[in-house]
Formats: sequence, structure tokens, C-alpha cells
Amino acid sequence: MCALHGAPAGIFELQKTGSLNHPHSATRPRFVVEDGATTDSDDASVTGHEEDDLHDEEDVDDSVKEDMKKLEDTFPGISERFRLVNRIGEGTFSTVYKAEDLLYDHYKNDWDTFQDHQYETWTSPPSKKRRIEGEGQLLPIKRRLSKFVALKKIYVTSSPFRIQNELELLHDLRGCRSVCPLITAFRYQDQVVAVLPFFPHTDFRIQYRTFMVADMRHYFRSLFTALHSVHKHNILHRDIKPTNFLYNPDIREGVLVDFGLAEREGSEYTGTCLCANPGFVRRSRFLQSYYTTHVSTSTMSAGYPKNDSRPSRRANRAGTRGFRAPEVLFKCTSQTTKIDMWSAGVILLTLLGRRFPFFNSADDVDAMIEMASIFGTRRMKTAAAMHGQVFETNIPTIGEKGYSWEKLVKWASCVEELTESEKQATRLLAGLMELDPYKRLSAKEALQHEFFTDPIEHDVEWGGHPEDSADSVEEEGGKDEEADEVAMI
Ligand SMILES: Nc1ncnc2c1ncn2[C@@H]1O[C@H](COP(=O)(O)OP(=O)(O)O)[C@@H](O)[C@H]1O
Ligand SMILES: [Mg+2]
Repeated sequence: MCALHGAPAGIFELQKTGSLNHPHSATRPRFVVEDGATTDSDDASVTGHEEDDLHDEEDVDDSVKEDMKKLEDTFPGISERFRLVNRIGEGTFSTVYKAEDLLYDHYKNDWDTFQDHQYETWTSPPSKKRRIEGEGQLLPIKRRLSKFVALKKIYVTSSPFRIQNELELLHDLRGCRSVCPLITAFRYQDQVVAVLPFFPHTDFRIQYRTFMVADMRHYFRSLFTALHSVHKHNILHRDIKPTNFLYNPDIREGVLVDFGLAEREGSEYTGTCLCANPGFVRRSRFLQSYYTTHVSTSTMSAGYPKNDSRPSRRANRAGTRGFRAPEVLFKCTSQTTKIDMWSAGVILLTLLGRRFPFFNSADDVDAMIEMASIFGTRRMKTAAAMHGQVFETNIPTIGEKGYSWEKLVKWASCVEELTESEKQATRLLAGLMELDPYKRLSAKEALQHEFFTDPIEHDVEWGGHPEDSADSVEEEGGKDEEADEVAMI
């Protein structure tokens, strides 16, 4: 087994001396966990409890035990270094295990201070004291607690480029706040295991039911902080979704994980998209296009041309169904970090609308239909044209004008009126789920939004009545309608 020490260039030029045998010589960055500390969370939905620290075994399925044994048997040396505890994630590209870091004390675990702080906060212990015989006084017990890591076993079917890319980007992002740091990585033959600090977090399926707007504020402050750092490095994460942002409500912080689909801005270059041109260029190209001069004026029936000799357009579509930005669906070839901001908007919409998943499309065409149902055909056509595409639909339920976000959130969450804080969050939502990526908020701009800088604390318990709250303002129906229109234009 070889250790990958995360050098940006030539990360796969593995060190010949496996650091398994020479832990003291390793220079890998490590995290610091406060000794003697335990977490005092009593939220059953938070994974990774102090019981683990106290060596209590987790309830592990037989099939999981078998799976962990298989990894130990096929990856020589791994069991001398880690005690596999449980399987905590299984995705398309990897399986993630929680493991005890047996050689923790052999390393200088001095990586970034944010994690120090994080662990300090997470692990503030209820003081455990024991009477020491003969001394007649209470002394805190000094207990050597287990240190946990997440072992991400990347499937052998992943291309070496993909694996290298993920590790390299993580290496570049080390020290970035709210981004899960890479501790080290190992390779044995075609198997690669990335070692990350273990982050206790809640399951989003529990969060989205109980989150108040104030909770959303903490969640998104942390997520935008992570995205701001990532985007400053000109890196697109490409797969922003709840399972890739591990949020811990106890400390009101989360970490961004899974850079498996991430890429550097401009690295997938297949020609500049029309959207990257100034408006007047876009307009004149559109007016000269075959569609404008021939198709749109004729009465053609809906469908695809039988003999289309044009080469098919290629663009990166990597991401997850329901979280893809409109420009990804429109096969924009100049995608930017703004695609992540759209996906963050989808998370906010899920929380405000209290529906998960919010979008549930089977494919990209379905996804466009879902979007069109919200935005209306007029805005979808404009958005498509930006990228040199044409959006047409004859689905009768899709209107021309679409709906405002407020209306949509009210409908989704089954309330008659939104609280002032929900309205404020909805204004942020409108800035994130903006069809035009150039008008969409950046992470930095989102952090400067009134939602964070001038928060309206006006939460009502879920299921409560907004009118019971002090500052609620009844709006007249007519005025509301007018506002909807403005929001949609
Ligand atoms: N550092 C970590 N701490 C705790 N859990 C983690 C960690 N990294 C990943 N996980 C868990 O494993 C899951 C899958 O990890 P991820 O990196 O997203 O892999 P994949 O590429 O397979 O989606 C995550 O959704 C999360 O539940
Ligand atoms: Mg993932």
C-alpha cells in the first residue's frame, strides 16, 4: 500500500515507502481532536456519537460487516492502521466507512484551525468526574478517546483521471473553511482509499422537516462560505446537494464533501457558448439564426427534425437530477461556478417548500418541463436563447408567465401566507434560482444578502399560523399579484 500525499502535480507518483510502516516519517496533515472530550448531543439523528468514542460498537448489519472485512482482506495493511466501525455512505462512485484511526498518536495532527475549533465545540464534554480512592476529591477522568476518520473507497471502475482529479482538487482546497480536508490517501493495486476527518452530521431527510428559517440561515451561511472558498479557487463543485454538504446543527456548521465531479472553470472547454457574448451579439446571432428566419415563422408541427445533419452539441452535464442548473440542461459550453449557486437554491427551495426531493425528473427534458412549469415559457425561451438553444413546448398546463417564488413556496409548504423571515429567505431564493447565470448571485453576493446581513427573526413553529406572529403584514391580493409579475420579469 502506498500513501498519496496530495501533491498537486503527479499525485499518483506514489511514495515507494508505504507510510503504513513508517508512520512517524509521514508528513501528512492531521486533524486535532481534543483529548478527553465527548459530544453532548442527544439528537439521535446526528451520526457519530460519543458512544463510539467510548468504544461501544455500533449496531452493524452482517452484510456491512462482511463488506468491511472484504476491504480489510483485500487492502493489505489497512487494518493495522484503521479499525473499521461502520459503513456510512454508499454512492455511485464510492463507499464510505467510519473508522477509528489507530495510529492517530503517531502523527502531528496539526491541520487547519477551523477543524480544531469545530471539534472543540462539538466535543465540549459533560464533565465526567470520579472519586479517586484515598484522595477524597473529585478528579476528571483522563480517557484516551478514539479518533475517527471517514475512509472513502473509490470504486475501481472510476477512471484514474477522475480519482486523481478529486484528490488534487481536495489538496488545492486544503485550509478552506467548511470544506472537508483530505488527510491522506492510499492505493493498493487498483484500489484507492481517501482518508478524511469524520464529521458527525444530521440526515437531511430529518432536517428538512424541522428547519426553521433561523436554522436555514446557519446552514446556508456555512454552505456559502464553503462555496465562496471553492469558487475563489475557480473550482466548480458540480454536485451540490444535501448528501454532499454534511451539516451539524449542534455547531451550526457543515462541511462540503465529494469533489468527485468537481472541475476547474474552463477545463471542459469545447468552444465558447453564446451566453459569454455581449447582449447585442447574442441578439444579432439569434435574429440571423435558421430558427428565426425559417422555423419560427412557419407553422411547423412539434417534434424533432428527421434528418438533422448538425453535429450534436456536447457539454458537461455532470451533476445530480433535480439539482442541475438550467444552463447545464441547455448544454452551455461556458459553465461557471454559478451552477453550484443554482443547486444551493434548490436546497433552499426544498427547505422552504418542505418537499424533498423538490424536483423529481427522470431526465433532462423532464427537468426542463419542471422548470418551465415554474418559470413559464417566456422566460424559458429567453434562457434557452442565451445559450443558442430553442425552447418549445406544447404542454397546455405550462403557462407563458409562470409563478412567483412566494406563490410557489406557499403552495409547496401548504400555507396561506409566509412569515416575514420566510419572505426574506424567498428573496434570497429568487437570487439563487435565477435562470440567467450572469444575474444569479455568487457565493460572496449571497453572503452579503439581507438574509444574512439584516436578518428578520420572525419564525413561527412549523404548522403554526403566521398571523399569530407579531409583525406579520397582511398583503392585499391585488398588490400580491402585481408583485408576482414583477418578480417574474
Ligand atoms: N468526512 C465524512 N464524515 C462523515 N461522513 C461522510 C464523510 N464523507 C462522506 N461521508 C458520508 O458518505 C456519503 C458519501 O460520500 P461522498 O464523498 O459524497 O461519496 P460519493 O461520491 O459516493 O457520493 C456522504 O453523503 C456522507 O453521508
Ligand atoms: Mg456524494
